[in-house]
Amino acid sequence: MPISRRDFLSSTLAGSAALGLSMDALAQNAQGEQSKRASKLPILVCSEFSYNWIDEGHKLLAGGADTLDAALQVIKGPEDDPNYQNVGLGGRPNEEGVVELDACCMHGPTRTAGSVGGVRNIKNVSLLSNTVRLHTGHVMLVGEGAERFAVAQGFVRENLLTDKSRKDWLLWKETHSDWWGPGIASPDWRKRFRAPAHAEEWNDRIQRMEEIAATIGIAPEDRLEAIRSVIYPPTGTTHCSALNEKGEMSGCTTTSGLAWKIAGRLGDSPIIGAGCYTDQDVGSAGAIGSGEENIKVAGAHTIVENMRRGMSPLEAGMDAIKRIVRNHNGDKERLQFVDMVYYILRKDGAYAGVSLWEGYSADHHHMLAVHDGTKRLEKTVNLFEGPSQDWPPVQFGS
Ligand code: GLY
Repeated sequence: MPISRRDFLSSTLAGSAALGLSMDALAQNAQGEQSKRASKLPILVCSEFSYNWIDEGHKLLAGGADTLDAALQVIKGPEDDPNYQNVGLGGRPNEEGVVELDACCMHGPTRTAGSVGGVRNIKNVSLLSNTVRLHTGHVMLVGEGAERFAVAQGFVRENLLTDKSRKDWLLWKETHSDWWGPGIASPDWRKRFRAPAHAEEWNDRIQRMEEIAATIGIAPEDRLEAIRSVIYPPTGTTHCSALNEKGEMSGCTTTSGLAWKIAGRLGDSPIIGAGCYTDQDVGSAGAIGSGEENIKVAGAHTIVENMRRGMSPLEAGMDAIKRIVRNHNGDKERLQFVDMVYYILRKDGAYAGVSLWEGYSADHHHMLAVHDGTKRLEKTVNLFEGPSQDWPPVQFGS
């Protein structure tokens, strides 16, 4: 199949030209942008993946429901929907083909928290994290213990692996099953992460994978996305923070975690202070994206503490993003393997969505979903121009 080169090489190989970029220069992208403010309360902010359910959450809040119950309603939506491969039912499995889910929540008014990690067979782990908060003296349960606790509390065991996610996993098994080895923080990182140097090499790889995808039975219209998920395993997640007229706040986050992860791997989503953090005195923040990177900067906690010290939601989020960039010395060649989006809501109704990159691909921009009486999607403020990885990396048929 003939191909033409795309400018992906400029965002990968030539990206190393950015190595000398100073942190001040990196901060320029956010200049001039301001945090926004709710036109009226209550308000919910969440990831774009929960947009379809934000109405339900707002209706609950407007009717006087608890802030955490409203936020949970918003992130439970995609957990129940088998078409969302980032969370709950239909989530992408681990390297053994088993779906393992993580979630956490914080309830501002009572200053309580709950969390679950590596949970199998239970779809609504966001609700389960809240059950840990309400019905135990603990904050965090993981693995088999969390699953048994769920069943004891009335949650129903079910098979979470859909046919679509199973076939995508098979494609990964047959073509890329290679987690073992150095991560991007290692000096040896290139031993595992090597993007093809030439468009022809990309084309060969994608063509080979398309053939295998066909034998696995992946529908033609789903093949390119399946291949992408194999080459660049997604860490999609969803988060929601809520604030009511009384100034009460809560937040929650849920995920199936990094696709094809090693069994037992936990990302940032179940970590109070990384995937989600709410302080009734200050605000609430949550994250989606590369869990390993967010854990190292305790992203959500960092953001809330930044706001406590007087930063706006936008400044607070950008500071957390820049800490991630600092951890890789601004090396865009490594950072192209990192995605990070923060959703931030301050106690006075000011809010922001910030991201490391513009989006996942040239035709996608990270979005913040907001409902303050008016439901909308707003672009995040990104530190780096362009997508983390342009996709598809080659143009077909030209
Ligand atoms: N942010 C989701 C994960 O890395 O697991």
